[in-house]
Amino acid sequence: MITQLESLRQHSLVVADTGDIEAVARWKPQDATTNPSLLLTSAQDPRFRHLVDAALRENSGGPARGDMSATMDGLFVQFGREILKHVAGRVSTEVDARLSFDLEGSLSRARRLIALYEKHGVSRERVLIKLASTWEGIRAAEKLEREGIHCNMTLLFSFAQAVACAEAGVTLISPFVGRIYDWYRAQRKVDDIPVDDDPGVASVARIYNYYKKFGYPTQVMGASFRKTEQILALAGCDLLTIAPDLLDKLSRAPGPIERKLSVEKARAEKIDRVAMDEKTFRWMQNDDAMATDKLAEGIRRFDADARKLERLIISLAAATQAAA
Ligand code: E4P
Repeated sequence: MITQLESLRQHSLVVADTGDIEAVARWKPQDATTNPSLLLTSAQDPRFRHLVDAALRENSGGPARGDMSATMDGLFVQFGREILKHVAGRVSTEVDARLSFDLEGSLSRARRLIALYEKHGVSRERVLIKLASTWEGIRAAEKLEREGIHCNMTLLFSFAQAVACAEAGVTLISPFVGRIYDWYRAQRKVDDIPVDDDPGVASVARIYNYYKKFGYPTQVMGASFRKTEQILALAGCDLLTIAPDLLDKLSRAPGPIERKLSVEKARAEKIDRVAMDEKTFRWMQNDDAMATDKLAEGIRRFDADARKLERLIISLAAATQAAA
């Protein structure tokens, strides 16, 4: 009997959304994605303490010198390299959320992350630099792509963000499902929204259809899932990044599943093309209350978790020094 996970793999590339290296090894996804919140969880896990120690050794005196950002990038790359031992494809590594509105800052951090990977023999083809889908983040990605640095645009909640990313020629976008679902659930004061009425699922389907209709090569990777029904409703999307608990559920449920999205269906849709520039982007984004709230909150949350991770690293470095 085929499982839902096996069947899903026939329609979409399955990606693991985790900083848990053992989970990546278990699920053998094509690619893997991380973010500061996931890496905060993993850095606290004794199983991965050796990666924190390696980052501290490589940047010895980093936190003590106040050069925390270099130690953080070093840690992200330690996790990324370890994850790459278990995937055939790419790992996504996120740029500091504090740079979400800083074009030059984003460029130099992205280049530094790639330089760190390359120093360790990892080609840039195996890395996706994750940037928030702000206007500045999208402009940074546009430049990076011209340097052969591939980008994964995250915190993507609106159609305007998706159109701007496609026109910038980014490699991949991660439109979020679950956080849109969370917002509408709170708004409507309901415990659940059935998948047929789920605005998160509808957002990804709309973006996928638009990209395929107009032949944009940017890959669409549905992200941020709360339940397997949301994943199954997007079967056929180019990629789907899925947390280990949901991969587990899909692997236990009987398939086969039906393909929901396809290039053929998208091409048959009647869709109008949107002309995008900065003014239009900012207007459309501001006009979408959910996307405005969730983008701002997402940046705050990733930033808060990155700062917690910095404090954890400082305390671990102090403990290591005291023991020496
Ligand atoms: C992946 O790239 C995203 O960071 C992730 O799917 C977000 O998921 P969450 O909404 O469960 O935090």
